[in-house]
Amino acid sequence: MTAIAETIRVDLGARGYDIVIAPGALRDLGKLMAPVLSRPFMVVISDENVAQHHLKAAQASLTQEDITVETIVLPPGEETKSFAALEKLVGQLLDLGVERQDVIVALGGGVIGDLAGFAASVLRRGIGYVQVPTTLLAQVDSSVGGKTAINVAQGKNLIGAFHQPALVVTDVDMLDTLPERQLLAGYAEIVKYGVLGDAAFFGWLEANGAGLLAGGSNGQSLRTEAVAKSVRAKAAIVEADEREAGKRALLNLGHTFGHALEAATGYSDRLLHGEGVAIGMGLALDLSAQLGHAGPADAERLRAHLSSVGLPASLRNIEGGALSADALLAHMMQDKKVTRGELNLVLARGIGEAFVAKNVPAEKVRDLLVQNGATQSGS
Ligand code: GLY
Repeated sequence: MTAIAETIRVDLGARGYDIVIAPGALRDLGKLMAPVLSRPFMVVISDENVAQHHLKAAQASLTQEDITVETIVLPPGEETKSFAALEKLVGQLLDLGVERQDVIVALGGGVIGDLAGFAASVLRRGIGYVQVPTTLLAQVDSSVGGKTAINVAQGKNLIGAFHQPALVVTDVDMLDTLPERQLLAGYAEIVKYGVLGDAAFFGWLEANGAGLLAGGSNGQSLRTEAVAKSVRAKAAIVEADEREAGKRALLNLGHTFGHALEAATGYSDRLLHGEGVAIGMGLALDLSAQLGHAGPADAERLRAHLSSVGLPASLRNIEGGALSADALLAHMMQDKKVTRGELNLVLARGIGEAFVAKNVPAEKVRDLLVQNGATQSGS
């Protein structure tokens, strides 16, 4: 392992696990896996895009430790998070002889992690799994905390389980093969940790975000530091509130707006998840100011940073025409955080001080969306 490796423990008692973060960590996958295996056998689940770049290296690291490796390579994309794909996957795993004590590996981004994790949660009433997240978004968010899910016609992530991984192996060198837009979208989730609970980290990102995104040898250590800082922040929240009864909801900063924007743009290339979160965080800080929780300078500071690294920071940055405020509000009212018809949103008292605001007036949200460029009616 390189000198800049970090190991972070998610302390959840019997469900606790390590997250190993390092440039080149994939090369040590076999060694790292040894303590979580009951026999030298495992199935690696990946997608076609990731497999092309990283599957051989994963296999080599595992076979070097005399682990027999089977692989399942799925089509890339959100469609793979479906009942049909789950049914096929669990059938393949059973056909490969996966037993109750076995562990499977999710080598991929959020889609593969969510699907393989959910398959692990139900296969033989629950087997272990290891996350090897290959996107920045998965490295700082979805690989940590045990949320697994598939999508159904009624909405995204509505069928799933909390099922913690046995280990997370995060190789920041994998980010070198990510398309720039994906890297930036993942960066928005890093910014989120600063905005939600760590103003000093936000300041660090203002100073180092561009270098981190640029990569190279300096970027490699900045990436390790930022991923580790983000993961530590998420781990602390998950330890305090594993099943989202309270504090974990803070991780949804920018997400209720962001999900509505993703839905209104058809979950298409018009807007990636992280881009929706970036715009959503700006809207959340605007609303915080309008409701008297924060001053307007915080939203401006956030937008200045997002724009400086090339992330969309406003509704007006979404190409393809203005979105309807009513349609966006309707999507927001479908959010999992709506309870008894009340809109609950993560707002902030300033950068680094997020809180859950209950029963936010829908009219205020609608006005804000219009001020930010959404249309009054129609779509
Ligand atoms: N992605 C939000 C959470 O894990 O709770």
